[in-house]
Amino acid sequence: MEGSASGKFSGYSCLFMISFLMVCLGVRSQLTTDFYNESCPNLLTIVRKAVKNAIKTETRMAASLVRLHFHDCFVNGCDGSVLLDGSDGEKSALPNLNSVRGFDVVDTIKSSVESACPGVVSCADILAIAARDSVLLSGGNTWKVFLGRRDGLVANQTGANNGLPFPTDSLDTITQKFANVGLNQTDVVSLSGAHTIGLARCTTFSSRLFNFSGTGAADSTMDTEMVSDLQTLCPQSGDGNTTTSLDQNSTDLFDNHYFKNLLVGKGLLSSDQILFTGDAAASTTKSLVQNYSSDSGLFFSDFTNSMIKMGNINPKTGSNGEIRTNCRVVNS
Ligand code: HEM
Ligand SMILES: *[C@@H]1O[C@H](CO)[C@@H](O)[C@H](O)[C@H]1NC(C)=O
Ligand SMILES: *[C@@H]1O[C@H](CO)[C@@H](O)[C@H](O)[C@H]1NC(C)=O
Ligand SMILES: *[C@@H]1O[C@H](CO)[C@@H](O)[C@H](O)[C@H]1NC(C)=O
Ligand SMILES: *[C@@H]1O[C@H](CO)[C@@H](O)[C@H](O)[C@H]1NC(C)=O
Ligand SMILES: *[C@@H]1O[C@H](CO)[C@@H](O)[C@H](O)[C@H]1NC(C)=O
Ligand SMILES: *[C@@H]1O[C@H](CO)[C@@H](O)[C@H](O)[C@H]1NC(C)=O
Ligand SMILES: *[C@@H]1O[C@H](CO)[C@@H](O)[C@H](O)[C@H]1NC(C)=O
Repeated sequence: MEGSASGKFSGYSCLFMISFLMVCLGVRSQLTTDFYNESCPNLLTIVRKAVKNAIKTETRMAASLVRLHFHDCFVNGCDGSVLLDGSDGEKSALPNLNSVRGFDVVDTIKSSVESACPGVVSCADILAIAARDSVLLSGGNTWKVFLGRRDGLVANQTGANNGLPFPTDSLDTITQKFANVGLNQTDVVSLSGAHTIGLARCTTFSSRLFNFSGTGAADSTMDTEMVSDLQTLCPQSGDGNTTTSLDQNSTDLFDNHYFKNLLVGKGLLSSDQILFTGDAAASTTKSLVQNYSSDSGLFFSDFTNSMIKMGNINPKTGSNGEIRTNCRVVNS
């Protein structure tokens, strides 16, 4: 008894000493909103300006930047791993190949940030700020971004292929992939609302148009007029690279119309429509879609919470990782 009590006591003392040391050395294991207040006071202004410029050049870039942060966070945590070049990198994984974009814009933001505060701000944090700014500049709401992530030393192509959801995944599979990174079904639905902006290629939804699941017909959960429009846009013999809006009502506006679309069979991807229509959608996701479709304030506030949760997936802090100089390569 006495032995185990004193063993416990020294365990606690040890933990206490480690925490004390970490505080003394300024090692933080948590993200904070003021991480760069002193080391890079103009960071948020610099990123906002650069994102604004990028969106002025191409409206779609807002969507592309939001997606980059998502694809970063789901693979080895939010650590900038998606940005690493190389044929064995995440860029060549199936969900990313010929699909994720915005790397040049990230380079531009990074070089402005490096000019102001060399060697201080991680690429992973730049992605988090750029995603926040993109939502705001597209008409969505804003939030304080938690910061202090460091950049990873490796990309994980297998991790990207296994961890990122596919548009043909079932709701159970998508729910499981989110659960694997600590996100729940509320996060699945609110974050899918990011599909209120941006585009998707025919190849990502064409399986719904002609012979869905071997039925010889289109996916019956899709609005029939939308089916025929998309059949024209995406002929079976066509180039799967043609794109169309994820939210056919308001492509560039961050609003809750994505959810209104789902109520009337106008979700573009199977993974969108099953949130409302799928068998497994019986309870939570269907109800959330209805609630978000009628209350954009609720969508915005849940989206914000889920973005902060997603941005907090397995961050590298303290002495893990590094502050990359060039977002495309690890420091030499
Ligand atoms: C729920 C599971 C999800 C699936 C299956 C999925 C799938 C897809 C697919 C297939 C595309 C089109 C890609 C292409 O055309 O190559 C896309 C685009 C997009 N996704 Fe998702 N996504 C999901 C969740 C998310 C989340 C959580 C976010 C962000 C919070 C997000 C943000 C976006 C954005 C903004 C675009 C448009 C990008 C652009 O126009 O460049 N998606 N998604
Ligand atoms: C960091 O800066 C923000 C914005 O200027 C300010 O609201 C906050 O109080 C600052 N925090 C600290 C700890 O200085
Ligand atoms: C890559 O991701 C998988 C999860 O899919 C994980 O098990 C593995 O440890 C990761 N590899 C590296 C090198 O980080
Ligand atoms: C998901 O997690 C949030 C907290 O992060 C919680 O408020 C919400 O109720 C959860 N949703 C479900 C469906 O469990
Ligand atoms: C649809 O797909 C099924 C199974 O893949 C196939 O047997 C059938 O011939 C196809 N029907 C048409 C009309 O292409
Ligand atoms: C789609 O575009 C990619 C490059 O952007 C190209 O490699 C691929 O061949 C294109 N697919 C078709 C069917 O043209
Ligand atoms: C978008 O939806 C509104 C109703 O919510 C409708 O009045 C408008 O015509 C739609 N616009 C497009 C381009 O579909
Ligand atoms: C949707 O809103 C209704 C009415 O406010 C509420 O009872 C229900 O729990 C909400 N659904 C979810 C999944 O939060």
